[in-house]
Amino acid sequence: MDVLDKFKAAQRAGWAFFAPLQTFTTVPAARLVGHAGIRSGMRVLDVACGTGVVAVTAARMGARVTGLDLTPELLEVARTNAALAAVAIDWHEGDVEQLPFEPGTFDVVVSQFGHMFAPRPDVAVAEMLRVLKPGGTIAFSTWPPELFVGRMFAVLSRYMPPLPPGVSPPPQWGEPSIIRERLGTVVRDIVFDRDRISAPALSIGHYRDFTEKTAGPVIKLVETLSASDPAKLAEFRAAYDALTAQYFDAAQNIVRQDYLMTRATKN
Ligand SMILES: C[S@@+](CC[C@H](N)C(=O)[O-])C[C@H]1O[C@@H](n2cnc3c(N)ncnc32)[C@H](O)[C@@H]1O
Repeated sequence: MDVLDKFKAAQRAGWAFFAPLQTFTTVPAARLVGHAGIRSGMRVLDVACGTGVVAVTAARMGARVTGLDLTPELLEVARTNAALAAVAIDWHEGDVEQLPFEPGTFDVVVSQFGHMFAPRPDVAVAEMLRVLKPGGTIAFSTWPPELFVGRMFAVLSRYMPPLPPGVSPPPQWGEPSIIRERLGTVVRDIVFDRDRISAPALSIGHYRDFTEKTAGPVIKLVETLSASDPAKLAEFRAAYDALTAQYFDAAQNIVRQDYLMTRATKN
């Protein structure tokens, strides 16, 4: 297995526990569907769809939806979600860096906090644009590096081994200047917008406990440090709590998670 295959296998294993976090990603899914201008009858691809919150929302509006994700456990939940919502969706286990679709298949390609985890941004975005029709819309939500979740990745990176060579840090996808560069001249009319997830939390400790059990990169770090260096784990937890404290609104029992939305038209 080469470095990238190993990286993706670790991603697949880490994201398997993500399903409870769909309570956070359900509301922004509707925002992304609106931002992307998804309408009835459109052919839509939700890349790194996880439990399918964006896919199901688009399908409820009458779009013809395909969802693709690396992690089979999440696709199982996605199937249940589609059944509960009484919508039909074409689910695929796969990799955004190698999409199993013909060029120009979709009217809209979306990804919510998803394609940003592919190791090679240039490959991922080239694939998303390849399967999009000329005149179609690419739209995604990502975590800016200077806001809560992006800063959380920075804290994590202080306690983890460096990313393997050739793997790009996910929060770079939250920088408008980098996004413009990556989308390049293949698109026009780039539009940015921002919104907020108000994640329910009874305390800072509850928030950390929940993410330690559900968020792939945090699960991995806690697993590694629990076995190798409990003192460093305690240090990480203190740093994580100190960061969360800056975004925890005790009067409302929420943690503010602001994010960036991007939309562009393929030439
Ligand atoms: C933070 S979750 C977001 C899931 C979902 N889009 C949502 O909003 O709830 C990140 C997702 O990216 C998926 N993922 C990571 N790397 C991927 C890749 N190379 N190709 C496809 N999916 C990938 C994971 O399996 C996981 O479902």
